[in-house]
Amino acid sequence: MEIITDIPALRLYLKRESVIAFVPTMGNLHEGHLSLVRLAQQKADCVVASIFVNRLQFAPTEDFDQYPRTLADDYKLLENQGVNVVFAPDEKGIYPVPQEFLLEPPLLANELEGEFRSGFFRGVMTVVLKLFNIVQPQVAVFGKKDYQQLQFVREMVRQLNLPLEIIAGDTVRAPDGLALSSRNRYLSGEERAEAVRLYRALSNIKQEVEAGNRNFQQSCKNAQENLASNGWRVDYIALRQRDTLASAGEGASDLMVLAAAWLGRTRLIDNLEIDAR
Ligand code: PAF
Repeated sequence: MEIITDIPALRLYLKRESVIAFVPTMGNLHEGHLSLVRLAQQKADCVVASIFVNRLQFAPTEDFDQYPRTLADDYKLLENQGVNVVFAPDEKGIYPVPQEFLLEPPLLANELEGEFRSGFFRGVMTVVLKLFNIVQPQVAVFGKKDYQQLQFVREMVRQLNLPLEIIAGDTVRAPDGLALSSRNRYLSGEERAEAVRLYRALSNIKQEVEAGNRNFQQSCKNAQENLASNGWRVDYIALRQRDTLASAGEGASDLMVLAAAWLGRTRLIDNLEIDAR
């Protein structure tokens, strides 16, 4: 496995490759990331993973400084998984000058995650576009756990005519159902035991809607109250149309329930697909 930290060296190395599949990450890798790598390996002989904690997508009040940086462990995991190239630039490599050209995401960026994380999607989309330009992959793999991000990436590729295919990887869960996330390592032992309640709340909504309950607002409100009464601070629980993330009317069938909530000082997000036929 090649570990490359600067753009000219990466470009030179990748010149010889005809099909590249790309997995962008912020490091602190877990089985969720490795499952994306495995999807990438089905698509190309050369898999590039990037590790870059992107300051641009963190608000000043967020956890940029505390975000777990575990490069040595990440390299081992990627090497064992058979990744060909790790691109691990430093901040000056990606932002040699202040990034003044920013990618403006659609209005939906003010809803769901965007309502609670100001500037988040501008930062994500800007760095993803830069990484696409640097790596120039034919395929890129993103996890469904960050579903709004995945939808924006798909839409950016479509609207900006980028010559690559986006593949979506399923959320990987711990045996009790908690979605794997780098931020799970912030949870205390007690919080870790409680954290599964978010998945259970979403599973209840899924069950109710799939059983024919069309009172979406009430289902979300019940889930929110259940979490709040167990010490959570809920940012949102929302039922949306799966393909557009627009509000779901009563007749909608391909749905998604999405949530973000705080357990102590840790913000967890999760989502589930719902087939309401
Ligand atoms: O999902 C992530 O880890 C990040 O948002 C991404 C796509 C690597 C951009 O920094």
